[in-house]
Amino acid sequence: MMRTRPLKVALLGCGVVGSEVARIMTTHADDLTARIGAPVELAGVAVRRPSKVREGIDPALVTTDATALLKRGDIDIAIEVIGGIEPARTLITTAFEHGISVVSANKALLAQDGAALHAAAEQHGLDLYYEAAVAGAIPLVRPMRESLAGDKINRVMGIVNGTTNFILDKMDSTGAGYQEALDEATALGYAEADPTADVEGYDAAAKAAILAGIAFHTRVRLDDVYREGMTEVSAADFASAKRMGCTIKLLAILERAADGESVTARVHPAMIPLTHPLASVREAYNAVFVEAEAAGRLMFYGPGAGGSPTASAVLGDLVAVCRNKLAEATGPGESAYTQLPVSPMGDVVTRYHISLDVADKPGVLAQVATTFAEHGVSIDTVRQQGRPDGVGNEASLVVVTHRAPDAALSGTVEALRKLDTVRGVASIMRVEGE
Ligand code: NDP
Ligand code: HSE
Repeated sequence: MMRTRPLKVALLGCGVVGSEVARIMTTHADDLTARIGAPVELAGVAVRRPSKVREGIDPALVTTDATALLKRGDIDIAIEVIGGIEPARTLITTAFEHGISVVSANKALLAQDGAALHAAAEQHGLDLYYEAAVAGAIPLVRPMRESLAGDKINRVMGIVNGTTNFILDKMDSTGAGYQEALDEATALGYAEADPTADVEGYDAAAKAAILAGIAFHTRVRLDDVYREGMTEVSAADFASAKRMGCTIKLLAILERAADGESVTARVHPAMIPLTHPLASVREAYNAVFVEAEAAGRLMFYGPGAGGSPTASAVLGDLVAVCRNKLAEATGPGESAYTQLPVSPMGDVVTRYHISLDVADKPGVLAQVATTFAEHGVSIDTVRQQGRPDGVGNEASLVVVTHRAPDAALSGTVEALRKLDTVRGVASIMRVEGE
C-alpha cells in the first residue's frame, strides 16, 4: 500500500555529487515514489555558500546550518556529501542521535571512523549506507556485504581511484604531462577537494580499508593500508612497462594469507600485462576483481568518479534505506567478527621491476646479481642498455625478479644503493596480475 506522508531527506552538501543527487531526486520523483512505496521529499539542503546559484534547487530549502536542519524534528534520512572528517562526522552522529538514518559517500571518514559510526547507527537502530564511498557508480559494497555474505572472499584487486586512472591513462595513451592530466580530472569533478588525496593514494587507501573490512569481516584502519601514490611514475617507467608488454595502474590489493590467519592491504602503482583486463580500464573508470572461494573470480566495472555516476550509487542507497524505514527494519551493519590482524608490507610476496643506473664496466652485472642472491631474491630477467641521456661509461640496468617478499626486496635495494658501481636506483615498481 502506498504511504502518502513523504519520507523527508536532508541533503548535506550540494557540490559535484550533491547537486546531481538533488537533480535525480527531482526528475525521477515519480519512479522513486513507486519503487519505495512512499513519496520522498528533499526537505533541506545544507551548504557552505548560501548565495551560490544552484539550478533546480528551491532557494527556500538552502541553509548553512546543517545541525539545525537535522534537529528540526521532521527529517527521516540524511545524505552526507560534504566530504572530509569534520563537520561530516559530527553531523552524522547528530543525525543518529535524532533518529535519522544516513547515506554517505565519504570514504575518508568511513575509513577513519567507520567502526564508531556503525556502532552509533546500531545503537540507535538506524541505517548507515555508503555504496558511493567506493568505486563511484559500481555496485560493490552491497554485493560484497550482501550477495557474497555466504561465500569466503580471499582476494580483492582493483583500480579504485578515477582521478589517478585518468592521469595514468592520459600519460600512457597521449603522452600528456602529469599536471595537465590532473587539471583535466579536477575540471571534470573527479578529484577530491584536495587532489593530494588522489595522487598520493590516500583516497584509494581509504577505499581499500573499507573493502578489506567488508571482504574479510575484520577491521582494517587507514593506517593498516600500505600506501604509495603515483606522483613518481614517469614517462621512462611507461616506456619500460611497454617493453615488458605492460602498462602502469594504481592498484588496491587486499589478500587473505594462505593460512587464513592474517590479511594484507596495499595501494601502489604497479605494472600489469596489457593482456590483463585491468590494463584496458581507461579514463576515470574503475574495475575491481573479487576472488571468492565458491563464486570464483568476479569483476565489477564502471565509472568510478563524477557527479552523476556517484549520485546513482547514493540514490540506490536512498531507496534501500527508505524501504528499510517503511519496513521498520535496518540493513546489515558492520561485520567484523574475525578480528584478523593486518600483516606488514614486508610480508607481501610479489614480483619487482627495478631500474638501476650503473657504471658500465666489467663485473658490475655480477655484483648486482650477487646482491640479489644474498637477499634471497631470484632474478627473472636482466636488460642492460646505454643511458638514454647518453651519459658515457654508464648504463641502465633493468632487473625483473621472480616472486619475493617485500622485505627481501627492500633489503636488496638498500644494499644496491651502497655499491660504488650503482649510481642510483631510478625506479622500483611491483609487477602484478600475471
Ligand atoms: P564538493 O566539494 O563538490 O561538494 C562539497 C559540498 O559540501 C558543497 O556543496 C559545499 O558547499 C558543502 N559544504 C562544505 N562544507 C560544508 C559545511 N561546513 N556545511 C555544509 N555544507 C558544506 O565535493 P564532491 O561533491 O565532489 O564530494 C562530496 C563527497 O562525495 C566527498 O566525500 C567525496 O569524497 C565523495 N565522492 C565524490 C566523488 C566525485 O567524483 N566527486 C565520487 C565518489 C565519492 P558549497 O557548495 O557552498 O561550497
Ligand atoms: N576522487 C575520487 C576518485 C572520487 O577520483 O576516484 C571517487 O571516489
